[in-house]
Amino acid sequence: MKEAGHLFLVGFMGCGKSTVGSLLARRLDRPFYDLDQRIVEGAGRSIEQIFEEDGEKAFRALESQALKDVAAHPPAVVALGGGAFCRACNRKVVQSSGVSLWLQVPFQEMQRRIEKEGGRPLAGDARRLQRLYRSRLPHYRQADLSVQTRGLTPSQVARAVLKALDQFDGC
Ligand code: S3P
Repeated sequence: MKEAGHLFLVGFMGCGKSTVGSLLARRLDRPFYDLDQRIVEGAGRSIEQIFEEDGEKAFRALESQALKDVAAHPPAVVALGGGAFCRACNRKVVQSSGVSLWLQVPFQEMQRRIEKEGGRPLAGDARRLQRLYRSRLPHYRQADLSVQTRGLTPSQVARAVLKALDQFDGC
C-alpha cells in the first residue's frame, strides 16, 4: 500500500462507502471525509437541491473541486460519491494521491438501500438505475483494489479491506 497516500473508496450508490469508510478511518487512525457531505456543507444545500437548482454539471464541478481539496489534506480515508470515479480528471487526482478500492456489492442489494434511503437524484426507476450501474462498471474496474462484500457486515467488510490493503503492492 502507498502508505503515505489516501484510501479512496469507490463504487455505486448504496455500496456502503460512507459506513465502511468511517469504520476504516477509525481502524487506520486517520480522518474520514465523505465527499458528498463536504459538498453539502460547502454549498449549504442538499445534493438534491444542487441537482435541482443548478443541474448535474454544476454538481460535478463541485465534486471535482471537493476531491482536489481533500486530496491536498494529510492521508485520510475518503468516500467518493458514486459518479466521482467515472470522470477521468477525478481518477487522475485519485491515482496521484492514494489507493482506490472498489466496494463490490450485488446490484439488488444496492437498489434496496437506494430505495430505502432516498435522496439520490440520479437513481430514477429500476431500469434506469441498472443501466447507470452497467455503464459505470468499466470505471469502477479501474480501481487499484476491489473487495466483494456479499453477505458481509460493515465491520467484516472493513476487515476485508484492511487485508486487501496489506497485500497490495502499489508500485
Ligand atoms: C451520485 C451518487 C451520490 C451523490 C450524487 C450522485 C452518482 O453519492 O454523489 O447523488 O452519480 O452516482 P453516493 O454514491 O454516496 O450515493
